Amino acid sequence: MIVLKTNRELALMREACIISAGALKLAGEAVEPGVTTAEIDKIAYDYIIKCGAKPNFLNYNGYPATACISINDEVIHGIPSKKRVIEEGDIVSIDLGAVLEGFNGDNAATFAAGAISSEAKRLCDTTKESLFLGIEKAVAGGRIGDIGYAIQHHCESRGYSVVREFVGHGVGHKLHEDPSVPNYGTPGRGVRLLPGMTIAIEPMINLGKADVKTLPDGWTVKTRDGKLSAHFEHTVAITPSGPKILTLL
Ligand code: MF3
Ligand code: CO
Repeated sequence: MIVLKTNRELALMREACIISAGALKLAGEAVEPGVTTAEIDKIAYDYIIKCGAKPNFLNYNGYPATACISINDEVIHGIPSKKRVIEEGDIVSIDLGAVLEGFNGDNAATFAAGAISSEAKRLCDTTKESLFLGIEKAVAGGRIGDIGYAIQHHCESRGYSVVREFVGHGVGHKLHEDPSVPNYGTPGRGVRLLPGMTIAIEPMINLGKADVKTLPDGWTVKTRDGKLSAHFEHTVAITPSGPKILTLL
């Protein structure tokens, strides 16, 4: 069931999303060689609590942290750890959100640790571009397939591949709501987009093949071929005047 939000609800959701975006920015600024992923997680946790909100991933289906921090060939859902030290040249995907007054924000970005290869930089740039191309298609009267196609076309035309097993989603009262928002699709197909819909668009793009596997920790998702992966995400509202990115600072 897709829950449409009123303007009043969108205003509340914006508050949760601003906190989510602030936490992501701070966490991203902390990415540098020598820092552990647990330290970054704590920075995000402390910020969200200071803002009077709660980390919405923490305890979600038993997830043990505020942020998912996924390095290099880790695609998503990397669990922060005191033992995991970020190294020069790593690309570090951070995904996190906050819940405030019953509304959720969700956002992600991939950050560079020191100097990264031009190959890694181009992957991150392309993934971020594809997120914004997808967001442009989040308009009333359009369809979910328009968003997926825009993302897929941009990334595949540059030789990258789109992860299939994990997708974007509705977001609002719950972290994950209907509809699913795949990062692939056919223009004109899928659920029709309506004003008041709030969705998390989140391309997960691989340098090599699309195939992924989940590690025995039950969470961490990696590329099967061991090549790099990037992830960017915004929470977006569909409004009569176009897409509104709720997680923009
Ligand atoms: N970040 C994921 C998403 O964007 C959700 C994480 S699930 C959690 O949809 F359990 F790790 F929180
Ligand atoms: Co999400």
